[in-house]
Amino acid sequence: MRKGILSLTAAAALLTFGLAACGDDGATTAAPDGAASSADAGAKTAGKVGVILPDSKSSARWETADRKYLEEAFKAAGVAYDIQNAQGDKTQFQTIADQMITNGATVLMIVNLDSGTGKAVLDKAKSQGVATIDYDRLTLGGGAAYYVSFDNTKVGTLQGEGLVKCLTEKKADKPIVAELNGSPTDNNATLFKNGYDGVLKPKYDSGDYKKGPDQSVPDWDNTQAGTIFEQMLTEQPKIAGVLAANDGLGNAAITVLKKNNLNGKVPVTGQDATVQGLQNILAGDQCMTVYKAIKKEADAASQLAIALAKGEKPAATGSVKDTESGADVPAVLLDPQAIYFDNVKDVVADGYVTKDELCTGDFADKCTEAGIQ
Ligand code: BGC
Repeated sequence: MRKGILSLTAAAALLTFGLAACGDDGATTAAPDGAASSADAGAKTAGKVGVILPDSKSSARWETADRKYLEEAFKAAGVAYDIQNAQGDKTQFQTIADQMITNGATVLMIVNLDSGTGKAVLDKAKSQGVATIDYDRLTLGGGAAYYVSFDNTKVGTLQGEGLVKCLTEKKADKPIVAELNGSPTDNNATLFKNGYDGVLKPKYDSGDYKKGPDQSVPDWDNTQAGTIFEQMLTEQPKIAGVLAANDGLGNAAITVLKKNNLNGKVPVTGQDATVQGLQNILAGDQCMTVYKAIKKEADAASQLAIALAKGEKPAATGSVKDTESGADVPAVLLDPQAIYFDNVKDVVADGYVTKDELCTGDFADKCTEAGIQ
């Protein structure tokens, strides 16, 4: 720890405050006014938090948002941390975890690349007395002590409803809908699909919509998504709407639609409110995205991690069922928001993207039109 006594005291005060706000189970001995004495602070040596992010290609969020917000939270709390990215490599993921444990991590927070390798990492951590948190993706059968994410079924519902809204606006008649799903090994992708199929299936069943090609994209790989969508469109040139599970997959579909002069005519959904996704919405090529306030997710997860690092047992606000083990995992689930042309400005107002990065070149006029200040 390279921090001085003063900042340590400040950090302790922040920790105490954060825990009180988070509603811990009473295991802490925080003074009611949030002013922990420096003696207490000195006595409680916080542990070290290791975070493993999945990759930097399946979505821009991991490196541009999650890393940044987690880092800010750990720094503010004065807790030692190490955030690494496995770059989509499952072997590397396990190596990083081993190194973190060897280097003294007392809390391990992971975004798994699949449940199998995620579980191996969690098992090892637990066997060494390291506290575990599943961040964003639940590791099925993994038994992490906590799970922090969004209501992912709701994310999917918003996508399904978004596509319906955009198809209705286009007055599409019995549209053929293609589905470009996330990675088959990501539990979130299953939840997103449950959500949007809950909206679309009744439409297929009633004959309002026609079910088109429906395929998962391994590892959320954007390049593969392009190839898959190209094949979909060749086999079914009348695709009239695309349910793409995130902005990266949506952009892959839009690129193919552009080549066929179909962009803007065929609504495409997304998720993550990435700069690219929002620009596609401003351009009229993407129907909607789902904004997940990553700062809130990172804050909730880091509060838990910080409490665990101090040897406490923080309370979660709810729980989710692990469909593999049947266990109830203590969880914090946040609320996602649908974003269309008219409320792209909300994402800017929330500080998630800046006007400078969004309103470049040709997008400047569109930004004005969309009321982005
Ligand atoms: C996350 C999404 C992300 C996707 C690809 C999912 O588990 O919830 O936000 O777009 O993975 O990285």
